[in-house]
Amino acid sequence: MSTKEKAQLLQPTLPYEMYVNQEVFDTERKEIFSKNWIFVGHTSQVKKVGDFFTFEVGGESILITHANDGKLRAFYNICPHRGTKVEQSEKGNKKILQCIYHGWTFKLDGHVNRAPNFKNIDLGEYNCLKSIQLEVHRSMIFVNLNRKAPSFSNEYTELLSELNRYPFLDSLQLVRENRRLIKANWKAVVDNFLECDHCPVAHPSFSKTFDLSNYSIVPCDKFSYQCSIVKDQDDSLTVRFYWIWPNMMLSVYPGSGNMTTTQLIPIDANQTMAVYRYFFMNEQLTEEEEDMIKFVDQVREEDFDLVELLQSGLHSKAFENGIYSPTENAMQHFHEMVLEALK
Ligand code: FES
Ligand SMILES: [Fe+2]
Repeated sequence: MSTKEKAQLLQPTLPYEMYVNQEVFDTERKEIFSKNWIFVGHTSQVKKVGDFFTFEVGGESILITHANDGKLRAFYNICPHRGTKVEQSEKGNKKILQCIYHGWTFKLDGHVNRAPNFKNIDLGEYNCLKSIQLEVHRSMIFVNLNRKAPSFSNEYTELLSELNRYPFLDSLQLVRENRRLIKANWKAVVDNFLECDHCPVAHPSFSKTFDLSNYSIVPCDKFSYQCSIVKDQDDSLTVRFYWIWPNMMLSVYPGSGNMTTTQLIPIDANQTMAVYRYFFMNEQLTEEEEDMIKFVDQVREEDFDLVELLQSGLHSKAFENGIYSPTENAMQHFHEMVLEALK
C-alpha cells in the first residue's frame, strides 16, 4: 500500500475550530439544544404536588413543576409581564410561584393567579407562562424547546427498547448530585466519554476493575453504548455506558439497581457545566454503593482533567483536526450527527 493510500485510511475528526469558535457554539445552541429532546431531571425530584426545579436548556432557564392535577409540566422560567426570571432557586416546593418584580403570581399549572398592576384586565396570551414539550420515560424527564418536534418515543424508539433490560429504572431515587464547571467545549467532553482508548493510560482503577480485552462500543440510532464485564467474572457483572444524543450520559453498573447520569450544559465555546447524579433503589446507601460512587467520581475527575488539557491544545495552529483510531467509531458517529444537525 502506498503512503498516499495509507493516508486516505486516516479519517479526519471534526475540525478543532468547531471546539473553540463562539459562532459555532451559538449555532449549536440553536440547531442542536433548542431542537432536540434534552434530559433535565428525574421524577424523584418532583415527587409531591408543589415540587419544582429549574434547569438550563439551550441558554434558557426552564421550570419543571408538579401541579395539583398530578401532572408534570415544563415552562420557560420567564414572566409574561416584562420578562423577569420568575423562580430564582434550583429546586423547592411552593403552592404559588411569584415574580419578584411587579408581584405577578402563578399557579403550578403555569396560569397567572394574580397580576396586581392589571387588576381585571384580560391578559390574553400573557395569562400563562410559556409552556414547553415535556415527556417522561423510565422516570427520566425530557423537554424539547421545539414546539413541533416529533415525540421522544418516535425519535428514540431503539433506546427505549434497549432500556427495557433494566426493570428497576422506575424504582430509582436521586440520592446525590454534584456539579463541575469544566473548562472545555461540550463536544470534547462527549468525545472523551465515547472512546476507551485512553482507559489503560488514564484510568488505572477502571482498568484494574473491568476487562478491557472484552470491551465493545456499539453506535445505535441517536445513542451508543459501551459494554464491559468485571475482570474474572461471568457476564452477569456487566457495565453499560450509554451516550444519548446530544448531551446525556447514563451508566448502569453491576450490583443492585443503580444509574448514574451526566448532563452537559454548554456555557460557551470553552466551558461546560457537568451535572452528575447518582440514583439507587434506596436513599440509605450500602457500603458497596458508597464505594461505587467513589470509584465513579474518581474516573470522572480523571476524565474532566484530561479534557481540560485537551481544550487548551485545540486552540493551537499545529493541526486543524485529529484522526480516528479504529475503536473511536462511536465518536465518529457523534461527529456525523453534529455535522448533520448544523447543515
Ligand atoms: S416582570 Fe414579572 S411581574 Fe413584572
Ligand atoms: Fe475516561
